[in-house]
Amino acid sequence: MTTLQALFQDYSHKLQELYSKQEAESLVHWLFEAYLGKKRMDILKNENLESLPSGLSLAMKNLMVGMPIQYILGKAPFYGREFEVSPAVLIPRNETEELVHLILKENPKPELRIMDIGTGSGCIPITLDLELNNPAVFGLDISEEALKIASRNAFLLHSKVKFSRLDILQEELPFEDLDIIVSNPPYVRYSEKELMHTNVLSHEPHLALFVYDDDPLLFYRVISQKAKKALKKGGKLYFEINEAFGKETKELMENLGFGKVKIFEDLNGKERMIRGIRHS
Ligand SMILES: C[S@@+](CC[C@H](N)C(=O)[O-])C[C@H]1O[C@@H](n2cnc3c(N)ncnc32)[C@H](O)[C@@H]1O
Repeated sequence: MTTLQALFQDYSHKLQELYSKQEAESLVHWLFEAYLGKKRMDILKNENLESLPSGLSLAMKNLMVGMPIQYILGKAPFYGREFEVSPAVLIPRNETEELVHLILKENPKPELRIMDIGTGSGCIPITLDLELNNPAVFGLDISEEALKIASRNAFLLHSKVKFSRLDILQEELPFEDLDIIVSNPPYVRYSEKELMHTNVLSHEPHLALFVYDDDPLLFYRVISQKAKKALKKGGKLYFEINEAFGKETKELMENLGFGKVKIFEDLNGKERMIRGIRHS
């Protein structure tokens, strides 16, 4: 038999081999809530624990090899909703919530036609579908596994987004007259790998993350070219961007004929979003 406090200290101490003290403690809180139904207050009360559920020890083992907690629990929060995730999809990030928020703020009209390219868990199109007034929203990805998760999220969250498979680098966009195209494409250079935490590197899909250093804006160029045909005049193209390439991405979009191209900073003051308008 042990107590909640003893277990809390043991787990957070072990996790500090991989994470900061604050991160380790918050991970143990997630675990306790998911597997024991215990909140912070319960830890203070220091209840006795007769036995530990087997799922909890396995979850702890997975955390110790760097698996992100969202994959262990199979879910991640995004814009106030819970999305199922698996190692086939990127874990939705805070910056991407900010991109969605920007699109919602700039586009309050009803019945917009919207396309998300590289949809992963479907967090972007499903949120837009559920937050806007009667839009028609589509999501594309090269990965069949990701599309399965995205469709399941649409089903669970009562969204009518339609998903289909498409390799944006090889195929044309079979759409026209869209009001909005959005994409959070792979944008981390392989040379940036060393700066990343082991839990991202060993567990998140490399297909979703990385681009070759000799052409880091590949997806931005191809998507901008194809978006020019698929958007209606006045339609908008939104990207999440690598903070190292704001200026280059803006120039690229302007050279390809987008107007009013604007870079937006995230809450941490980093250049993480861009928007351009098709004007001809
Ligand atoms: C950075 S992730 C973004 C996932 C999700 N939209 C999000 O924001 O959490 C990029 C996505 O692009 C997809 N992808 C990679 N190469 C692609 C390609 N050639 N065509 C279409 N999608 C691609 C990946 O499978 C991955 O789901």
